[in-house]
Amino acid sequence: MKIGIMGTGYVGLVHGAVLAGNGFQVTCMDVDADKIKRLTDGITPLYEPGLDELLERGIREGTLSFTTSAKEVIQSSDVIFIAVGTPAKDDGSANLAYVHEVAQAIGKYANGYKVVVSKSTVPVGTNRTIARYLDGALKSRHAPFRLDVASNPEFLRQGKAVGDSRSPSRVVIGTESEQAKRMLQAVYETHIREDVPFLYTNLETAEMIKYASNSFLAVKISFVNELALLSEKVGADIGDIAAGMGLDERISPHFLQAGPGYGGSCFPKDTQALVDIGRRNGEELHIVRAAMTANEKQKSRMVAKIAEQLSFDGTLKGKTIAVWGLSFKPETDDIRDAPSYAVINGLLSRGAAVKAYCPQGMKQAQRQWTELNGLVTYCESEADCAQNADAIVLMTEWEQFREISWDILAKSMRGNAFFDLRNMFAEHPRVRRLFRYYPVGSSELA
Ligand code: UGA
Repeated sequence: MKIGIMGTGYVGLVHGAVLAGNGFQVTCMDVDADKIKRLTDGITPLYEPGLDELLERGIREGTLSFTTSAKEVIQSSDVIFIAVGTPAKDDGSANLAYVHEVAQAIGKYANGYKVVVSKSTVPVGTNRTIARYLDGALKSRHAPFRLDVASNPEFLRQGKAVGDSRSPSRVVIGTESEQAKRMLQAVYETHIREDVPFLYTNLETAEMIKYASNSFLAVKISFVNELALLSEKVGADIGDIAAGMGLDERISPHFLQAGPGYGGSCFPKDTQALVDIGRRNGEELHIVRAAMTANEKQKSRMVAKIAEQLSFDGTLKGKTIAVWGLSFKPETDDIRDAPSYAVINGLLSRGAAVKAYCPQGMKQAQRQWTELNGLVTYCESEADCAQNADAIVLMTEWEQFREISWDILAKSMRGNAFFDLRNMFAEHPRVRRLFRYYPVGSSELA
């Protein structure tokens, strides 16, 4: 079975590289010629642990290739995965332009039976529309074969994508075609753990499962974040509350980590899109909307808290703040919708001087947050960033922050406030002794 992957974002690349590593002949296609050239030369365009090695191996063993030609991939593949981006439009709805381009190319170039599998997160009904479109395109060409469509949402987490693709929590396949079901099962069974459950359903349900899962996780985070704000006021501790809740297996301990708000390319976009799908269908999704509002509030409350602790009047003029971690979570260079962006802007607008350091996210920040260039000083290391600062604001829980020489660092600072927005050092006696330590969701100071 030959595999084609349309789109070389992290989902497409990881999926393609993992399948190539399992002996499938995989061709990845992207319209970005420069990216395809770099990939062909073995240069990975994004930071994802384990991906470099997989790509290198696929290229070396000849199982993985790259092209800008949609025609070539479509005609040479039995299964075509659509993994192009579906960014949010200004009104919150998903932009399907790239998905449509791929569908059009498939309708035009398909030269025999193929399964067209949607991995991109698309609004409910999109795959049905693609199926109808492809039927129509084949009819108008008098093509003597059919194409089957399946929705196969992706549940990979950035930073853990390679491991997740071998060990997913579940494989969801939405299709009405038995042949498509069998072919997709054969694709997955080569590389996933034996006990991973498969769920077969229709196109619309598979599409909804993806939105429902991401939105539910976003709701869970916003719920715990609101409780964290309340805990600070009433003298409770959110870490213990989450632990106490999580011991009930109906609740589960996962995604109960309070912080500065969720970010990334998925939760903000998918919650917005689900609310938009609801609106279009006459159903207001109050809970998802509330999670989104709480997430915005969380970011601004973090800024307000920092300002309240560092000054009497809420302004931060004359203060230098070291921001550690720009990516929306550790082990990725992705800064899309990262809470650090809102927090940095909030600090700047209150007059602070901002220094920033991130193990992987700085190049992207300089490239994408162009309006901040000149306003933020990007630093070489955590220590460089903290030097002469009045406060540290830890935005992302990178493991390397645990290796810091705290005594030296504390001495190099002008002030000694430490806002740990991920509660990474809540149990660290040295950090708590050296700094005025402000965790999230607990009123006690060191
Ligand atoms: C998320 C989902 O977890 C994946 O299952 C899904 O496949 C993916 O979106 C997607 O749709 O492509 P991802 O965006 O990589 O994965 O990151 P998560 O690990 O889910 O974290 C999202 C955000 O929530 C981060 O900003 C993280 O810091 C925050 N978070 C997460 C918390 O604030 N608290 C938690 O307890 C967990």
